[in-house]
Amino acid sequence: MQGTSAWPDDFLTVRDFSPAQIEDLLHLAVQIKANPAGYSSALQGKTLAMIFEKPSLRTRVTFDVGIHQLGGFSLYLSPAEINLGKRESVYDVAKNLERMVQGIMIRTFAHQIVQRMAQYASIPIINGLTDYSHPCQAMADYLTVLEIKGRVAGLKVAFIGDGNNVAHSLLFAGAQLGAHVWVATPPGYEPLKDALSWAQNRAAQTHGSCTLTTDPVRAVRDADVIYTDVWASMGQENEAEARRQHFLPYQVNGALFALAKPDAIFMHCLPAHRGDEVTDEVIDCPRSVVFQQAENRLHAQKAILLQLMKHSVAEAVVAEELVHV
Ligand code: CP
Ligand code: NVA
Repeated sequence: MQGTSAWPDDFLTVRDFSPAQIEDLLHLAVQIKANPAGYSSALQGKTLAMIFEKPSLRTRVTFDVGIHQLGGFSLYLSPAEINLGKRESVYDVAKNLERMVQGIMIRTFAHQIVQRMAQYASIPIINGLTDYSHPCQAMADYLTVLEIKGRVAGLKVAFIGDGNNVAHSLLFAGAQLGAHVWVATPPGYEPLKDALSWAQNRAAQTHGSCTLTTDPVRAVRDADVIYTDVWASMGQENEAEARRQHFLPYQVNGALFALAKPDAIFMHCLPAHRGDEVTDEVIDCPRSVVFQQAENRLHAQKAILLQLMKHSVAEAVVAEELVHV
């Protein structure tokens, strides 16, 4: 991974980019959304392999549609087909795919898997969700905030619930963009210390802030954005019942949402468990922007695909080998 001025070759976490690069990506997404036809052959003939080790609606559909809208192709690889690390090693999968496609999007469990894939493959790797982070989601989230509020810097963004992958990425991107991000979790469910401290350090440079609390009321009061996610993430299904008792005071319901600013918006990465982390009256209210947020996955990811895949290196691997024959 590179320094702050050169563009990273991969999109593994929002942390790997400079604040200016994150802003540039958001502005590219705004342009692509406004003029999709202008980008319809930007990645002509390029193929994106999509490796899924967990289920998906939004990530699968928006990457699939997004690469096609840019003139390219997609290839869906299900958990059963690849069986990453069991049927075949991460190294061997990377070394095969780099000769066949020009980019890989991967949704998996351990974050180290996407890091290793990026280390081994000469083509761009995009993190489509790991247990640690969900960077494409955060780009769509802040694109949505930008569209609705006209800015991100200086806004109070309150994440209520589990200090999970989505919370981490919301912290990272919020810190990059100068937001005041609050995270309210039950004791024992905080974001990882390294994630919070990175975000706090970066926020200190962007005039933002990152604050952790166990009090949802403190987090929500006068907030511009209220955000929640499921209490048990994919892979934690067997903890769902035990978690419900800890998380009930953190439900985003009408009473909690009323403590935010009168024009506050409600956000959720989806899928939602209605009646758990959010009630129908909040997720279905006019200030809920969850479907605009979901649509913005498409536009934000087209910007990421374009930035990473416009200079394909797959041809370079083959050309280098021909020279050595
Ligand atoms: N928000 C999100 O990533 O949705 P999927 O799990 O359906 O892809
Ligand atoms: N935290 C959730 C997000 C789903 C998009 C999960 O990892 O299951």
